[in-house]
Amino acid sequence: MNPLFESQVYKNRRKKLMNAVNGGIAVFLGNHEAPMNYPDNTYNFRQDSDFLYFFGLSIADIAAVIDFDAHQSIIFGNDFTIDDIIWMGDQPTIASLAEKVGVTETRPFGQLADFIQQAQAQGRKVHFVPPYRGDNQILLANLTGIDVNHIREHASVELIKGIVNLRSAKEQCEIDEMDKACEIGVKMHTAVMRRAVAGESERELAGLAEGIALSFGNGISFPVILSQHGETLHNHLHNGILQNGNMLLMDAGAEGLMNYCSDYTRTMPVGGKFTQKQQEIYEIVLKANMDAIDAAHPGMYNKELHRLSCEVIAQGLKDLGLMKGDVKEAVELGAHALFMVHGLGHQIGLDVHDMEGLGQIYVGYDDTVRPSNIFGWASLRMARELKPGFVVSIEPGIYFIPHLIDIWKKENKFADFINYDVVEKYRDFGGIRIEDDLLITETGHRVLGPHLPKGVDELAAIIGK
Ligand code: GLY
Ligand code: MN
Ligand code: MN
Repeated sequence: MNPLFESQVYKNRRKKLMNAVNGGIAVFLGNHEAPMNYPDNTYNFRQDSDFLYFFGLSIADIAAVIDFDAHQSIIFGNDFTIDDIIWMGDQPTIASLAEKVGVTETRPFGQLADFIQQAQAQGRKVHFVPPYRGDNQILLANLTGIDVNHIREHASVELIKGIVNLRSAKEQCEIDEMDKACEIGVKMHTAVMRRAVAGESERELAGLAEGIALSFGNGISFPVILSQHGETLHNHLHNGILQNGNMLLMDAGAEGLMNYCSDYTRTMPVGGKFTQKQQEIYEIVLKANMDAIDAAHPGMYNKELHRLSCEVIAQGLKDLGLMKGDVKEAVELGAHALFMVHGLGHQIGLDVHDMEGLGQIYVGYDDTVRPSNIFGWASLRMARELKPGFVVSIEPGIYFIPHLIDIWKKENKFADFINYDVVEKYRDFGGIRIEDDLLITETGHRVLGPHLPKGVDELAAIIGK
């Protein structure tokens, strides 16, 4: 059985959701085992995060309903049979598991369809979140009678908004779990730093990081990105051997035993010593990371933190001659996005990109801040106002992407802000990203987890040691 919070935690969450949704029922489908290559050979089981949030239980093939009119929660699932017990050992009943998360009403899984159809027959609204797995899309279509090709469009915006509102502000028990996930993330990164020397294999280092995530928690929070080509943002190929003169970027985090996530990026010179050119760019990214962290507080819009770190990047690149003109104007118009192509970060929680499956528009935006369609700005996942309990990643970067440079240069795009002749001297530079996980507190912020080296001297002191 997976570790759980006190049953009251789940009861309180469901009660708050009941106050947020105006009638009807909500159906929460747990996940099923996912086959890798034949049905009984499955991926590591991962429960759905909304199910974990409201019902805690990390077992396959269960579902739950919250009845907003009757103020009642029901878990639907089948008790294990002797056939299961022969293979899996003694198993608790669904009723005894449900009790641990404060649910007193349980029914066999087969009764879910009747329950939903009865609610529909009574003209009651059936709320659900957009299903992201094929099996649950089919199941939900069968349960509701909605065409499977359109099932996601029928997700309840009222339910999504209610969930986002709750899950965004982390409770203390969640923050404690996130600190633990960060501890594992720091172990992963420091282990790799100690071996970031010429001759080491990328594959072994990626495996080392993943092994640590599995040794101390539930595994990685997303596939490890480890590359000497940091300019390729999500590079999952690990075929290279570390070479002096290169920088190694690792973007990796862990899921703790209660499925809360961490997400860190460090970029380091192989062997520990930056060239002058590398260090100059590195210091700009570090300042963008640290200035954004220093400025973060409740009431601030994350869009403004993004702007701040982009302005640090544009100013730094201007000082080195790669950019020119008015820094604020350059960032407002999107000229910096030749180098900082993505957004400053995202929320983190039970998902590493927390709640992304519910729709980024509800997670990162609201009525007071809407998405931009300007390249760079458009990639900002989290723009809205920061509140106490929010956890966001702070992950600025500078990347030299040869294809992108060629396209912009050909168009002479933002010629008032970019010195393409100087940029050309960096086209083989690669990319740097530095990422930490930041909790917004009542009065300011706290970087979660133990300190993970990121200063130039700190890196030199640990790499290869
Ligand atoms: N999953 C990569 C990142 O958001 O940092
Ligand atoms: Mn990351
Ligand atoms: Mn991230």
